[in-house]
Amino acid sequence: MLSFPKNFLWGAATAAHQVEGQNFDNDWWDWEQTPGHIKNGDSSRVANDWWNGRFIEDFDRAQSLGHNAHRLSVEWSRLEPREGEWDNAAVARYREMLTALRERNIEPMVTLVHFTHPRWFMEKGGWLADNSPQILERHATRVVETFGDLCNVWITINEPNLYMVLNYVWKTRPPGTGSLTQGLRVARNIIIGHYRAYAAIHHLQSNAQVSLAHQWRWIAPAKKNSLLDRVVAWQSNYLTNEMFVRALTTGRMPTPLGRGEKIGDGKMPLDYFALNYYFQNRVTFDISRPGSVFARQLHSTWLKGTPFEEFSDAGDLAPDTFYQLLKMLARINLPIYITENGTFDIGYDNQSPYLVTHLRALHRAMQEGVKINGYYWWTLVDNFEWDAGYWLRFGLYHLDVETQTRTKRPVADTYAQIIRDNGIADELMKRFGV
Ligand code: FCB
Repeated sequence: MLSFPKNFLWGAATAAHQVEGQNFDNDWWDWEQTPGHIKNGDSSRVANDWWNGRFIEDFDRAQSLGHNAHRLSVEWSRLEPREGEWDNAAVARYREMLTALRERNIEPMVTLVHFTHPRWFMEKGGWLADNSPQILERHATRVVETFGDLCNVWITINEPNLYMVLNYVWKTRPPGTGSLTQGLRVARNIIIGHYRAYAAIHHLQSNAQVSLAHQWRWIAPAKKNSLLDRVVAWQSNYLTNEMFVRALTTGRMPTPLGRGEKIGDGKMPLDYFALNYYFQNRVTFDISRPGSVFARQLHSTWLKGTPFEEFSDAGDLAPDTFYQLLKMLARINLPIYITENGTFDIGYDNQSPYLVTHLRALHRAMQEGVKINGYYWWTLVDNFEWDAGYWLRFGLYHLDVETQTRTKRPVADTYAQIIRDNGIADELMKRFGV
């Protein structure tokens, strides 16, 4: 048995727009209205129907699996549907959700911005606007004033690196216009906003634990002996990972986001490192892609021959990379929370081996001294997976969107067993070939 420390947090992660349904005042809802934007014409209209109260039954499910932590987000466009107007009904709903978690002894972690923005915010330019950092600070203040009695673990923003790349460079997500230059401006403002929000939250709540969730895309050259592949891999890694982590750990704005100038008070605005990790990505030099700094991502080998073969943005299964990454992040000297990790179902129980191999890698890093406090599987119940609609299904539970029926997947039991044992049994490792 590979045991975990007492008080280790085990849970799942969700995001408002992906689970709530009836979420009509943000940039994603608008984006979904254009045919072709969402795979199979899917829509977030119903999703997991949380806004009608189904969060209760899903929190019961989380509790039945033994979860003692849950990451969720509050939807900014519900709380502030028009600039400056705070919606009391939405506040009440979120208070019910947070209370329901607490009643089940599930510790909430709340994300303030998980990919969606109020329509009014985008009309003012979104993160391109010079005053966007101040707007986030105001929002964070309001949220913590309102929910601070129910939560003290916060994530200001989810994955600004992916937001920069997918929404402004690849343009597969809203606003779907832009360039690398605009993406960098967006990233810069988000980072400044995070510094401001961090300070504001700490000003209000002395025991606050605040971070920003970074998805570390581990980027490797497709051909190790190709100099061009190595250059594009290095460059992509810098722009998607290093640059962000530097900006968040050194107190200075790195090139090309800035010229090394101090951000805020220059102190590291993180109380823990919030790591989202999924796959390893291989990239190759491609002259036809100047907008993506000449990098093209290869298709995943493990998806060959599956219905997901055409999906170009997954990556390869690489628990060893996860281990290496955790060892590397130890240099930052902060406790780490795995705020997202998981894989989608490809037709058989491929999720259990993924879970076991990744937790084994995590355990190994912990054995070697890396401080890790918790693990949140993405996700509890299949939900609206952004531009992939309901095509990619990451849930511990399968969802039938029409009937709203949830069916437990084998991975839910694997995870529940690990949580019950607070460790990975030898039998599980044998079964999943670790
Ligand atoms: C992450 C997102 C999350 C979900 C997973 C699969 O990038 O944070 O909302 O879409 O990927």
